[in-house]
Amino acid sequence: MHQLNKNIFITDFKVFGGVIMEHKKGREGFSSGIAAFFATLGSAVGLGNIWKFPYVVGENGGAAFLLIYFICIIFIGLPVMISEFYIGRKTRKNVMGALELLAPKRKWKSIGIISMLASYFIVFFYSSVGGWVYSYVFKAIKGDFYEVTSKSAQDEFVRTIIGPIPPIIWQVVVVTVVSLILALGVKNGIERITKTLMPILFILILICDIKALTLPGVGDSFKFLFKVDFSMLSGSVILMAMGLAFFKLSLGMGCMMTYGSYFTKKDNMMGTAAKVAVSDTIVSLLVGIAVFSAVFSFEMKPSSGPGLLFMTVPMVFSKLPFGTLLLLVFFILASIAATTAMTSMCEVVIAYYSEQRGMSRRKAVLLNAVIILGIGVFATLSADASSLLGKFTIFHMRLFDLFDFISSNILLPLGGILIAIFVGYVIPKEDIKKELSNEGKLKLDKLIDAYYVILRYVTPVLVFVVFLSSLGVMEKLIKLFS
Ligand code: PHE
Repeated sequence: MHQLNKNIFITDFKVFGGVIMEHKKGREGFSSGIAAFFATLGSAVGLGNIWKFPYVVGENGGAAFLLIYFICIIFIGLPVMISEFYIGRKTRKNVMGALELLAPKRKWKSIGIISMLASYFIVFFYSSVGGWVYSYVFKAIKGDFYEVTSKSAQDEFVRTIIGPIPPIIWQVVVVTVVSLILALGVKNGIERITKTLMPILFILILICDIKALTLPGVGDSFKFLFKVDFSMLSGSVILMAMGLAFFKLSLGMGCMMTYGSYFTKKDNMMGTAAKVAVSDTIVSLLVGIAVFSAVFSFEMKPSSGPGLLFMTVPMVFSKLPFGTLLLLVFFILASIAATTAMTSMCEVVIAYYSEQRGMSRRKAVLLNAVIILGIGVFATLSADASSLLGKFTIFHMRLFDLFDFISSNILLPLGGILIAIFVGYVIPKEDIKKELSNEGKLKLDKLIDAYYVILRYVTPVLVFVVFLSSLGVMEKLIKLFS
């Protein structure tokens, strides 16, 4: 079973001072290319597809924005994802172990530290939202969404996020579910769950879309998402597309490195990266069509974020025939997306605790859950603006938004740029070629050359721009010159 993951000899790092011989016994990994694809897709598809992507696309020029997003995927997303896969599969180690092996005693280990910090910062607030989504599944089963009005939708949402006890209980439930998956291990947990849940998620989305096609608002939803409006494109919109690409594809924080370390040596990593990026975008668009068809059928304005997911959706879906059932389907699919995405965030640190710190997997999972809940609870409580914690702000941000800001706007782009520079300038090209082509078995020479050029000369420059923008510098410059 572990044949492919056993007996791995890494012998070609002479550049880093001598030959490193590594022999690892029975490290777990994914059993096939399909398993690797579903697990990686499980990480990419998350709450971002549901409340971020469709709205951002519609609000910022539809197809014109999509075009920019695709350019970002090609020039930033894919190169960074492939580089992360490379680091992971080459070393077969967790983020810290991988960087130690590839660049011993070098400052590059900071990539590992940034990765783990980013995973925690994201999971702190993501688990709160995950809890709300789970609680909506429960409410849908109980039949709470019968003839929802805008007032009752709002009340329900306020009840959901105002603590202190219910949102914390739901956060504990989500973290427990994710921890159970993780405790089962890479094959029995992550692989089995994503292989089962990803196809189900897809079917549930299709059910919502089939319903959407019968609604009067379907035409408007297509217009909203696909109209070509180049006039909406501005510097800041382009920068937004780049930030979205990072968050959507779970890049810059070690997720893809860690999952890459579980790929078999037969997997086509470049192919997997492309398939994941395309499938993730399709999922986002399908969710967008379902949600906005319903929204436009009732002549409502689309909104974003929690408002779209927790107020508009229950209101419009509940008005449709079989609406309560549809709501249940929708929130189940959102829960699946949140669960598999969170599982991947946590695996980054769990692999570190168990491999670098010698903890048993169970202990690592437990420690991780304690840390997430110990700090994440404060994010949850801060989401209620009227609470004591909700009034406490740092840089004008509540803890909830602060965690989002630090991770998405600072740590992910920083991790991304360092990964691109590390693989592009520190690792010998021959080695990258060998790994990506599976020792020459895959005929990908031209693609690898193109990837390498983009990684060295395009990605770092573009990411640098995103990074500056996230700190507000770029926006000011753009304003200055426009
Ligand atoms: N890609 C996930 C989403 O769209 C979020 C995520 C970010 C998951 C970083 C893992 C790591 O919701």
